[in-house]
Amino acid sequence: MLDTAKTTAPVLILLGPPGAGKGTQARMLEEKFGLVQLSTGDLLRAAVAAGTEAGKAAKAVMEAGGLVSDEIVIAILRDRLGDEDCAKGVILDGFPRTTVQAEALDGLLEESGQKINAAISLEVEDAAMVTRISGRYTCGSCGEGYHDTFKQPVKDGVCDKCGGTEMKRRADDNAETVASRLEAYHAQTAPLIAYYQGKGSLQSVDAMGEIDRVAGALRAIVETATA
Ligand code: AP5
Repeated sequence: MLDTAKTTAPVLILLGPPGAGKGTQARMLEEKFGLVQLSTGDLLRAAVAAGTEAGKAAKAVMEAGGLVSDEIVIAILRDRLGDEDCAKGVILDGFPRTTVQAEALDGLLEESGQKINAAISLEVEDAAMVTRISGRYTCGSCGEGYHDTFKQPVKDGVCDKCGGTEMKRRADDNAETVASRLEAYHAQTAPLIAYYQGKGSLQSVDAMGEIDRVAGALRAIVETATA
C-alpha cells in the first residue's frame, strides 16, 4: 500500500502499443523531472531472471506475447509502489494494461489520497512498430535503450550513459511475438484510452516523430499536469 506521506507525488501513465516509445520516453522524463520509472515489463523480466514463483508463471506468457495475469502484475506493482523512492512520484510504463488493472490502480491511489495527474497515450501506427522493435537493443549494465537506426550510441557498442559494452536484445522482440503483443494491445489495453478519457485525465501525443520531438511534447504535458 502507498504511504500517505506521498499524497502530492505525481502519478503519470504512459499508454501505447509495444514499441511506441514508452520506455524511451519514461527514462527521459525520469531524468528531467526526478520521477521514478516503473515498468511492469522490467519488473516481470527481473522476476523471470530471479526464478520467483511469479516469474515462473509469467515466462511462457511473455514469450508468447500475451498478457501476464492481472493478479501477478498487480501484486508486483503494489509491492514496488511501496518502495521509498516512489515517494518522488512515478511514471507507469506498461501498467495498467487491462481495465481490471486500471481499477486496481484507482483503488491503490484512493487509499493513499493520490490521483493520476495524466494518462498519456502515445499514438503510433502498427506498421512502424515491427521496425522499431526488431532494431532495439539495450545496455546490459544500465538498461539504456538503443536502436540500430534511430538511436545509436556515439561510440559503436559502448553505452553513452555508463560506458558498458555488453548490449542485449529481448527474447520477445521477434516478428511473430510482436504480432501477438500488438493483438493483445488492441484487444485488452486500447480500451483504456476511453477509460481515462471518461475520467478527464487522458492526453495524447503523436509519437511517430523523432524521439526528441516526442519528448518535447511529453515534457510540456507533464509540466502542466504536475504544476
Ligand atoms: P513491456 O516490456 O512493457 O513491452 P511492451 O509494452 O511490448 O513495450 P516495449 O518495451 O516493447 O516498447 P516501448 O513502448 O517501451 O518502446 P521503446 O521505448 O523500447 O512488456 C513485455 C511483456 O511483459 C508483455 O508482452 C507482457 O507479456 C508482459 N507485461 C508487461 N506489463 C504487463 C501488464 N501490465 N499486464 C500484463 N502483462 C504485462 O522503443 C522501441 C524501440 O524504438 C527502441 O529501440 C527505441 O530506441 C525506438 N524508438 C522509440 N521512440 C522512437 C521514435 N519516436 N522514433 C524512432 N524510434 C523510436
